[in-house]
Amino acid sequence: MTSLFSEPCKPLLQWYKKNLRDLPWRHTSDPYRIWISEIMLQQTQVKTVLPRYEQWFQSFPSIQHLAEIPLDDVLKAWEGLGYYRRARFIHAASQQIIDKYNGIFPKQFEDILTLPGIGRSTAGAIASFCFNMHTAVLDGNVKRVLKRWHKQYEATDKQLWDIAQQAIDASKSPAMWNQSMMELGATLCQSHTAKCDICPVNTYCQSAFSNVVDQALSKKKVLVKDVFWQINLHAHPEKGIWLQQRPEKGIWAGLWTPPIIELSQKPECSPCHIHLLTHRRLHLYSKYLSSTPPSDGRWVKQLSEFALPTGIHHLFEKQSLLDTTVSR
Ligand code: ADE
Repeated sequence: MTSLFSEPCKPLLQWYKKNLRDLPWRHTSDPYRIWISEIMLQQTQVKTVLPRYEQWFQSFPSIQHLAEIPLDDVLKAWEGLGYYRRARFIHAASQQIIDKYNGIFPKQFEDILTLPGIGRSTAGAIASFCFNMHTAVLDGNVKRVLKRWHKQYEATDKQLWDIAQQAIDASKSPAMWNQSMMELGATLCQSHTAKCDICPVNTYCQSAFSNVVDQALSKKKVLVKDVFWQINLHAHPEKGIWLQQRPEKGIWAGLWTPPIIELSQKPECSPCHIHLLTHRRLHLYSKYLSSTPPSDGRWVKQLSEFALPTGIHHLFEKQSLLDTTVSR
């Protein structure tokens, strides 16, 4: 199980750093602010929460203020967010924090868990975001991602918690891991739209491009054939990388790629990249070769001067081959 997580950690975190939505609660590690964001987001959409989030702190700048305000005022401030039980819990929790923790939001996971309205997932989010603890989050989005990733659609919550905890234990940055998993579920791996072609972990996910994910899509289906390609990489510190021009006909006609060999069967290992075309799913397996390149082709130092297919560009990006040669 560990290997499923230690490796994809990197592409997932890289994707998150590049694509994260700029949300106000991602600019703070203040427990009061994180706590309120997590409770608001439990049953309310991000776009509804956004305008209400700052307003909340104008009305109740600190836990102390909140605890001293009559419950009715807190309920009033919650108007429009729905599920008012959450506002009652927040108010009760603020008083517990004053009475039991001297007004300071508790740092221990077990203490956070005793606060009204805070279950294991919310406590996990708060403890990881604020105190960088290795505590898992398992909200609806993360559950869906894990079920698909491990192809365990019938998994119980207990099994999912175990998987989520293993992942967080293996992670060097639990806060970012939790944020990334939530972001993946909220943006690419939604219940009705699974964007496997641009998912950073599609090479590790056991459901990627599968029927189960396809079934979630309402789009018209096309028959897609899987193709397994070995991408032969001849790289030289001075000369660059060996590229060939593709034939005039067929996939990536006329574009420049490293030498490609079509494999007759799916290799045991995971592909380095999967690229989706209209009728083909290209599974790309890169292989570094120290042998002399084939006669056909040329060394290329400035990749930006050549027309590379997007799939190869992404592959190079993943392998950090672009850094020294090109920035697109
Ligand atoms: N849903 C629950 N917690 C969230 C967070 N921290 N960011 C975005 N959406 C969320």
